[in-house]
Amino acid sequence: MSLPASNKPLHYVSPEEFKKEQSHLFSRTWIFVGMANEIPDANDYVRTNISGRDIIVQNCGGTIRAFLNACSHRHARIHEAPCGNRKLICPYHGWSYDDKGVPTGIPAKDNFPDVCANPTQFALRQFEVAQAGHFIFVRLVPGGPDLKSHLGHAHEFLVNASAGLNRNMDEFQGTIAANWKVVIENALEGYHVGMVHRATLGAIRQLSARKQDIVDHLPSDSGHSYMINRANEEWLGKWRRYERALGRWPFKFDHYVHQLIFPNLTVTSFMGYSFHIQHFQPDAVGRTTVRSRIYSVHCEDQNAKGESIMRTVYDEGRRFTRKVFGEDQRVCELTYLGIQDADRPAILADHLEKRIAHFQQAYRKAMDTPVPDTE
Ligand code: FES
Ligand SMILES: [Fe+2]
Repeated sequence: MSLPASNKPLHYVSPEEFKKEQSHLFSRTWIFVGMANEIPDANDYVRTNISGRDIIVQNCGGTIRAFLNACSHRHARIHEAPCGNRKLICPYHGWSYDDKGVPTGIPAKDNFPDVCANPTQFALRQFEVAQAGHFIFVRLVPGGPDLKSHLGHAHEFLVNASAGLNRNMDEFQGTIAANWKVVIENALEGYHVGMVHRATLGAIRQLSARKQDIVDHLPSDSGHSYMINRANEEWLGKWRRYERALGRWPFKFDHYVHQLIFPNLTVTSFMGYSFHIQHFQPDAVGRTTVRSRIYSVHCEDQNAKGESIMRTVYDEGRRFTRKVFGEDQRVCELTYLGIQDADRPAILADHLEKRIAHFQQAYRKAMDTPVPDTE
């Protein structure tokens, strides 16, 4: 006997719910869009997509700004490549814009007396931008807390993590045939590790397996949460013996940390010697693009032996991350196939899956908050 249709987990599969998420959640909160150290020079830019809208995040003479990627004239895309270095010039009729997005170079400008008389009125549509260290966030609809208050505990973490970032050692993008929440929820629990990552994460000896050394933190109802897994004592002892060779880095700790910055950014690190930054972009109700970066950090007073150890650690990290991604991709896709047929809600473990419940609570809250009709 099947349960009433209302028990179907619609928010994973319904195009209407997906649309509602864009207006209720993604347009109204701070969304991670990229790293400031990746657009250091004037006119460096990256393109991103928030709530189905194409956004340019550009270094405008030292200030990072976000614009709608649509020309004020007849709305052509201004930048076509996903990233690069290029002034704000429209490829269609050649309108050019200054650092504030105001059209200042208009071919045959006598034809546009209104624009020439009041160019600021015809500036590119601009959005709020704020940074926590190198992490850039954009909010499409103004109002609500500033970035620092929104991030809470995570603000300090992102600022500290940014302090030592060195090289983007590995970057890849993968598409998963599943709703974005399935992918995030998979990242929020370690319950599946024994089954899915037996040969990869399950084989790691660096982390303590004692229950009391793995602690979830759910600091507020903002949806952000983090998990700390203490390093194994034996491993720490070994690590300390190499301390002289390895040198010092600015944000050092003795555990693995997995941070979710609600709704769709995760930053993880073991001991602070590298940072894995992943964001999960909803492309469609059943498709998510995961963008992954692994950063090394600057080490002071590292000798040749330390360099060689770190090279090995980083090389392994790169291989490992891609393998783990493939393993997670498979189970997320299997889950999404099952969700299509499900006619009742999922069951969440009391402790092992409580970060998922916390995430879902914040998601529900955003979805239940009314949005003015004018938006
Ligand atoms: S559409 Fe951009 S200059 Fe015409
Ligand atoms: Fe996993």
